[in-house]
Amino acid sequence: MTATATAPAQIAARVVDAVKVYGTGDTAVRALDGVSVVFPAGRFTAIMGPSGSGKSTLMHCAAGLDTLTSGTAHIGGTALGALDDRRLTLLRRDRVGFVFQAFNLVPTLTVAENIRLPLDLAGRGGDTEWIDGLTDVVGLRDRLHHRPAELSGGQQQRVAVARAFAGRPDVVFADEPTGNLDSRSGEEVLGLLGRAVRRTARTVVMVTHDPVAAAHADEVVFLADGRLVDRMAAPTADKVLDRMKAFDVREARS
Ligand SMILES: Nc1ncnc2c1ncn2[C@@H]1O[C@H](COP(=O)(O)OP(=O)(O)OP(=O)(O)O)[C@@H](O)[C@H]1O
Ligand SMILES: [Mg+2]
Repeated sequence: MTATATAPAQIAARVVDAVKVYGTGDTAVRALDGVSVVFPAGRFTAIMGPSGSGKSTLMHCAAGLDTLTSGTAHIGGTALGALDDRRLTLLRRDRVGFVFQAFNLVPTLTVAENIRLPLDLAGRGGDTEWIDGLTDVVGLRDRLHHRPAELSGGQQQRVAVARAFAGRPDVVFADEPTGNLDSRSGEEVLGLLGRAVRRTARTVVMVTHDPVAAAHADEVVFLADGRLVDRMAAPTADKVLDRMKAFDVREARS
């Protein structure tokens, strides 16, 4: 990406004392049980933990897709709890990017139209240079006029990554972005996310089950039973795998 990055704030997103309870009474599930975590700007953070540990819940609440039962969530300096629905929708549109396991492209739009969608929805023209750079980074210049059904899964996810960064969001949240991809396409998508962070100072928060994927991040935070239990800087796949095995041992004992 050749476009100049905007100067990042120090903290792209954070939650403090985050509690999320689904349901009430006997069936209530405490999906987040007092999580405080900072996602620094210009960094690539991975969230890991056993299934059901609250990873997606944390991501959804941090991104303003869901609301906390108690505690606070901020994107940059903005407290999400203070926003009404309309402002929250605008914040998600203008300041947050998303990449999901299912690529979620609009089937009737071309690659180029899908990438530009967040800008078009916001009525923001221009930024041609940035979008051009993104198109080259994701390697889809020769597919710009194709529709998603004419692309492989890996190519579709690369479009989704470009779309997520199109509006120069404060932070891009990705939930299992490589979950539906073979390892080679997965590596490509992870490489893109890493380059977006390192070359253009964007911020990425990624939920993953895969130690190899997590090793692309600058730091890994580990959740268990709705709590933040560990953090690891400069992760490698082996170190992450060892840490995840410790969860299995503990679970087998309990
Ligand atoms: N909408 C919901 N209603 C009720 N319970 C929910 C809801 N969403 C999640 N949960 C529960 O909250 C807990 C945390 O779920 P979450 O989806 O955040 O886990 P996860 O770490 O993302 O798991 P996975 O790795 O399987 O995706 C789980 O016990 C789950 O069953
Ligand atoms: Mg999940």
